[in-house]
Amino acid sequence: MISTTLVLLLCVNVGKALASCYPDLERRPTFFASLKTSQQTLATIKDIVKFDDAKINIGGGYDSSTGIFTAPRNGIYVFTGVIMSNGNNAVHFQLNKNDQFYTSGFAVNSNYGAQTVNSLAELKTGDKVYIKHRSSTSENVRGSHSSNCSGCLFSK
Ligand SMILES: *[C@@H]1O[C@H](CO)[C@@H](O)[C@H](O)[C@H]1NC(C)=O
Repeated sequence: MISTTLVLLLCVNVGKALASCYPDLERRPTFFASLKTSQQTLATIKDIVKFDDAKINIGGGYDSSTGIFTAPRNGIYVFTGVIMSNGNNAVHFQLNKNDQFYTSGFAVNSNYGAQTVNSLAELKTGDKVYIKHRSSTSENVRGSHSSNCSGCLFSK
């Protein structure tokens, strides 16, 4: 007959074994946000894309009201984004690290033209990353979950 103690011991040991197999299963700062609203117009060159539906926000670094991710801790972060144009316009965009240009993006001039961007950035706690407009011509980003952005801590 298997005693409760034995079952408990077994569970504890299986748990420990799994934890040593997957030492990185701890929850790191991670966000994934989607543009839920049907369209965002980037009227000025300063406009930031506000992915308003944060589906994952571990560590609370992403602010869906501003579109800005603030690093909760130091490290190398990986970012990905998809920007789709809406109507027949191109979308010139860029990933910013604080107030500096970091990498460039361009969704081609067509209805539903999209570009995926990927980036790695070394951040200090409090550094800010966001996707913003790169043109002074007004351009429309397609929402309805066609454009999105995500980021997570990759390593220390
Ligand atoms: C981001 O949006 C595109 C559609 O434009 C979709 O194909 C992709 O799966 C989305 N990304 C994620 C991580 O869901």
